[in-house]
This record gives sequence, C-alpha cells and structure tokens, in this order.
Amino acid sequence: MRYNANVMDEVGVVREKIDVVALIGETVQLKKAGKNFKGLCPFHNEKSPSFMVSPDRQIWHCFGCQKGGTVFDFVMEQEHIEFGEALRLLAKRAGVTLQTRGVNSGLSEKKERLYQLNSLAMEYYHYILTQHKAGKKALEYVQARGIKDKVISTFRLGFAPHQRDALTSYLIKKKHFTPEELIEAGIATQSGRSVVDFFWNRLIFPLYDHRENVVGFSGRILDNGALGPKYINTRETIIYHKGETFYGIHVTKDSIQKAKQAILVEGEFDVISCFQAGIPNVLAVKGTALTPMQVTLLARYAEKITICFDGDHAGQDAIKRSIPLIDKKNLQTTVVLIPGSKDPDEALKTNELMFKQALKHDVSVYDYLFDQAVSSADVKTAEGKREIADSFLPTLASIENMIIREHYLKKLSGIIDTSYENLVKEIDRLSRPIQAKEGMVTESEKRTREEILEEYLVSLILQSDEPRKAVDVSVQMLAGSIGKERAYQKIIYQLIEFVQDLQATFDHTTFSTSLPDELRSMYNKSLLFPLPKLSKETFLTEVRKTAQQLRELYLRSKIKRLGEQIKQKEKEGDSEAVHTLQISFNEAAKLLQDNTAM
Ligand code: GTP
Ligand code: MN
Repeated sequence: MRYNANVMDEVGVVREKIDVVALIGETVQLKKAGKNFKGLCPFHNEKSPSFMVSPDRQIWHCFGCQKGGTVFDFVMEQEHIEFGEALRLLAKRAGVTLQTRGVNSGLSEKKERLYQLNSLAMEYYHYILTQHKAGKKALEYVQARGIKDKVISTFRLGFAPHQRDALTSYLIKKKHFTPEELIEAGIATQSGRSVVDFFWNRLIFPLYDHRENVVGFSGRILDNGALGPKYINTRETIIYHKGETFYGIHVTKDSIQKAKQAILVEGEFDVISCFQAGIPNVLAVKGTALTPMQVTLLARYAEKITICFDGDHAGQDAIKRSIPLIDKKNLQTTVVLIPGSKDPDEALKTNELMFKQALKHDVSVYDYLFDQAVSSADVKTAEGKREIADSFLPTLASIENMIIREHYLKKLSGIIDTSYENLVKEIDRLSRPIQAKEGMVTESEKRTREEILEEYLVSLILQSDEPRKAVDVSVQMLAGSIGKERAYQKIIYQLIEFVQDLQATFDHTTFSTSLPDELRSMYNKSLLFPLPKLSKETFLTEVRKTAQQLRELYLRSKIKRLGEQIKQKEKEGDSEAVHTLQISFNEAAKLLQDNTAM
C-alpha cells in the first residue's frame, strides 16, 4: 500500500501522542529491564519473557517469535486489523481527527458502518422492550426471571417484535441503510423477493466486542415450548466472530481486570444474574468450549479463570477441551461445583448464599478432573483402572508443567495401584506428538556462536550510556579480524565509521537514519535485546570481553580456513603457495595465543 504525504504526517502525529509502554502496558505486564521493559509475549506462548519494549525508541520486539515494530504494528497484531484501522483506532485514542481518507482500505469503513447499524438496531430493540407496548410480554418475562430494570438497561436487553420487517423497515426508511447492508450485518435475511428481520418474537441480547462495538445479537424464545431453537445467534459476519466473542465482556471487563479473575459461565442469563447478585467479573462462552482466540483475549484481562459450567456431560467435556489452551497461556484455572443446581442463574435463585460460598471453594481444574476420573470407574478392577487412566492421562499429557504432572501421576499411581514408571511410559507415549509439533528450532539455535556474539556486542554498544567508548573498546579488539559479510558485522562497521566522524555525543536518531534500510530492523532489535544486569563500571569490561571472544572465534575460523587451503595446495604440489599460507597461518596462530593470554 502507498500512502500520500498527508497520511504520513498523520501517522507521525498519532505516533507521537501514543506512548508505546503505556499502550502495551495495558495488556502486557511489563517490568523494567535496564533502559527497556520486558514481559511475556502476547503473540506466542512462552513462560519466560522475551518480549521487549523500548521507551526511548518507541518500539517493541519479541525475541521468541520475531514480531515487532511500532504502536501500529502492535495494535494490528493484537486486534487482527489492517494498518488503516489501527491508525483510526489509535487516532481516536490520541484525540487526533484524521483529515485524509487515504488509508481506509474500504474494509474498515464498511465495518464502521456495520457497527453503526448494529448500534441502532440495539437501541431499537431496547426501546421496544422497555418503552413500547409490543415489548410488554417480553418485559414481563425478564422481570419474572428476577432481572431488575437497571440491569436490563446496563446490558441493553431488547425485544424483536413479531412483525417480520419491524427493524428492517425502520433502518431502511428512517435511517437510510440499504437492504444489502442489513443482510451483511446479519440482522436481516432474504425471504423470497423481500428482505425481512432475522430475529422476530425473541428476547434480544446484544453482543459486544471488547472495544464496546455492537457486533451481533443472540435471541431467545419467550416460550420454552415454542418451535425452533431456544437461542439463535447472528451468523458470522465481517464483524462478528463467534470464537472471539464473550457475552457480557463490554460490561464486565473492568471488573475482571480489577479482580484479575474471570468467572466463566455458559449462558446469557448466568452472566446477568451473577452481575445483579454482586458478582461483576463474569463472562459467558454461550454454550460452547473455549477457543484459542477467546483464551488469548481472556489472558489480557485475567490471571485466573474460574469455570462455572453446567454440571451436565457437555459442560464437563467443554472443561476438558479448554484445559490445554488455558495451560498454554499460564492462566491459573479453577472449577466451581454448583451444589444441586443446573446453572449459576438457577443456583442464585435457589440459594444465593450457597452459590457465593461455592465460588469461594473453587478447586484446581486438575483436582477436579482427577476426582471426576477416579469416581467414574471401579479403582479395583483391571478394566476400571484402564478406564480411569484413559480418562485422566490425556489431560495430564496436555500439561507442560512437570511438577504438576508428577504430582498427579503419583496420586494416580497410588489410587489405581499401578507403578509410577508405567504411568510415565504411558503418558510419554501420549505426549510425544504434541512435543514434536512444538519442538521447533528457535532462531538462536540455528545461528552460529559468532552470530550470537555479534548481536550481543552490537546490543551492548547501542544500549550503552557511552556508545562511543564502547565502539572504541571494540575497535581495539576487532581491528583486522572482523569480516564484513553478515548484517551485524556491517552494523559494527557502520558504528566504527559513524563514531570516527563524530563531533558531538552519539545521537541515535542520526545514526539510525545513516543506516541502509535492510540494517535498520536489526538496529531496532539490538536496542531491545535483553541484556543482563550490568553496572556502569562493568559495562565496558563486558564489551571488551565480548569483543575478545569474538576475536578468538574469528581467529579460529581463519586458522581452520588456512589449514584447509594449505592441505589443498600441498595436494596440488604448489609449494610456493603453501609457504605463503604457512606464514599467514603462523601469524594467526600467534595472534590467537596472545588473545587467549590477554
Ligand atoms: P436459559 O433459560 O435461557 O437460562 O437457558 P438454559 O439455562 O437452559 O441454557 P442452556 O444451558 O440450554 O444453554 C446455555 C447457553 O447455551 C445459552 O445461554 C445459549 O447461549 C446457548 N444455547 C442454548 N440453547 C441454544 C440453541 O438452541 N442454539 C444455540 N446456538 N445456542 C444455544
Ligand atoms: Mn439458565
């Protein structure tokens, strides 16, 4: 995509107003690490931080998955959106009004229009439920289920009237949307030659994304005995993705963030009843198992997830399937057993106190599944033991944490009276395919030690308080031995040249603009490279040590190369060449000896 000058100006203005540390800090826990900040990467699964943010350069980089860039790149990656939409989002946040329309890829404008449309539909349904006589029966239904008017308004509940084109004709005639747009938003469908409402005679729950856009609706029948499914949902559209949405998030996300805990329930009424009962950190998956996208979204707000699903078989199954996902995101997970009731909504009605008490006695999801497995079969018969192992071992195999695994393996071994070693063998067999898939070679493993040290040296120099001195120290060590083939070697050369002409102190902006494009991303990466803790006194010593190690490696490979050449020339019988090479060989060997003695 090409952008005109005006757009680039706007990008600059927005970028200046948004602090990368503040923006990322809202969803990633950042800790100070020297001049930079570090945290767990939100874009891949990791348990030790390799995600770095530089306040000086206003950039970020993950040394695990190699993603990085500016605030725009972060928002694009996090929200799965195009540059134009990221710009609009951040401009809104920065309070900048965009003048140009050059960056709108068309898609974001379209999405914006559908948000508007959905928002008007939401207001319409809400009005019908709360103000209009057509919504009277529905209002009575909701009130009879104990929902207070204030909460009806908080969740913007609505009613889709019986008339088949009520909303459609309102939006087309009064608000000038086209029938095509209504269909695209999923609130209307083609029926023969006419366009009619998708929802009719249903209680309406608007579905929001975490940015508080109305993205779709779910609609419940009022009469349980009526024909058709109890709930219907907006189909997938360009703005509604079931697997990325939670019911209730627009109301409850702040409470979840504050409590650092999300209580996960199955249905819309469960969310609303919990909220009304003073349990505000609640969300619903709407009757399905969690998806990876949902877990990623949850991890932005919560550290702990408490699953409070129906006690039926489907609910249990959903818990099992969610575990590997949650485990990967390092989220603490617990389960609440609802005593004698079907779902939280009912439990709150039957005995509010008991439900709240149950919430306090949540058990670790592993304990929960362990107990489930053990109580599902006879621990004394061979058949029963196999059943128990079959039901619990796959869960254990999906847990990466070895301490947790071992704990439950021992427990299981005791209960079904089977040797620990045999269970370990069994679980190894189960977890092998998973490990093979994840055992990707990391970037650093593929690189040679020379390359790793070069990157480290460049990072030391660039993150030093006195880059100029650090360059001088490196030059003393490396002069004459460093090559010019690899990118980091090129940066070292650039640094040496830059420092030679330098009148004033080292200026990062000037240096970075002096770099050719292909080196600039490595320069950015080096600025963020996670360095060990070094005091001002030991910094230059570390630079010297690193340069010295590099010099040793360079000399060693030179000696190896010369040795091979000598062998080759000897074979060819070229004694003159052998002689010259021998001199270079001896020189290098001497230098290596001196270097090691330094
Ligand atoms: P309520 O009386 O509305 O509380 O229903 P319930 O407690 O019997 O809900 P149930 O346990 O059947 O379903 C839990 C959630 O699954 C609901 O809140 C819906 O989000 C979803 N759900 C239930 N029935 C259907 C259905 O027929 N189709 C779809 N797509 N979702 C459903
Ligand atoms: Mn229910």
